[in-house]
Amino acid sequence: MYPIRRNRRLRTNEAIRGLVRETTISPNDFLVPLFVVEGTGVKEEIASMPNYYRYSLDLLENEVKTLWDLGLRSVLLFVKVPDNLKDNKGTEALNPDGLMQRAIKTVKNTCPDMLVMTDVALDPFSSYGHDGIIADGKIINDETVNVLAEMSVSHAKAGADFVAPSDMMDGRILGIREGLDQHGFIDTGIMSYSAKYASAFYGPFRDALDSAPADIKDIPKDKKTYQMDFANRMEAIKETEMDIDEGADIVMVKPGLCYLDIVRDIKNVVDVPIAVYQVSGEYAMLKAAAEKGWLDHDAVMLEQITAIKRAGADLIASYFAKDVMKLLF
Ligand code: PBG
Repeated sequence: MYPIRRNRRLRTNEAIRGLVRETTISPNDFLVPLFVVEGTGVKEEIASMPNYYRYSLDLLENEVKTLWDLGLRSVLLFVKVPDNLKDNKGTEALNPDGLMQRAIKTVKNTCPDMLVMTDVALDPFSSYGHDGIIADGKIINDETVNVLAEMSVSHAKAGADFVAPSDMMDGRILGIREGLDQHGFIDTGIMSYSAKYASAFYGPFRDALDSAPADIKDIPKDKKTYQMDFANRMEAIKETEMDIDEGADIVMVKPGLCYLDIVRDIKNVVDVPIAVYQVSGEYAMLKAAAEKGWLDHDAVMLEQITAIKRAGADLIASYFAKDVMKLLF
């Protein structure tokens, strides 16, 4: 009780604030998303993601070395697939010499100890820009799960340490776990995008991969039949618990900042690590505001990352990972 207790004593200077700080940021917190394209010598800036690039495999090598030298130890790979290789079933995703499979090998050859996680979903490979196969104007679940399981095995064969299904089909974690185990990949992990919301914050990412749902008659224009309604909380717990039962090693909440209540709810009830994906739209918002001089980029960035961790994130997929490393370490 005041005046016996004066809370400001613990805020007197940076030394005491440092001693009592509850949440700190470390290089181990980050998973770095990387966008890969065909070609050589390609480093293209993504228009809606300033200072973030798509790399061809030769330049991916340099980028991975740079990340390693900064202390970053995990990457999450995404590929931009040429239009002529896209179809309804995402056939190209299973090509053993496909861009993803080559990207995995490139990272492993460059930095054998870098942890490689891969995005598992059909949208970059789909002519419709959906995460599932379409039949009669609907995204069909179980046939999609079979392809996702095959895709995961293909990534494991190429050397992926973890597969990260981001599609939100029902039962895909079990399908993928069984597929991996049947092929002997018992040590390949699964990071499930378990509570993934149908969010408008994914816009810049869809620009990066040219993967937005197509505007075609009789085809859904959004992902609301599989990604979650952002009004829901209970559903996030259900999705996450089911994914853990099906074999998810790490679960995820996505997007980040608007969903930190969900992160805490899940943290309170599960016993596996929780990843948070601070998504492309969150990155774009801060870059844009900083460009206008309206926000202090570095200060807001650290506040956001710290808030995500304080909420309960054990790991954070973030486009700011490199910026944070350069600033702090
Ligand atoms: C694809 C996928 C998306 C993201 C990660 N994996 C987009 C989507 O679901 O439409 C979004 C990431 C971001 O916005 O940074 N399944």
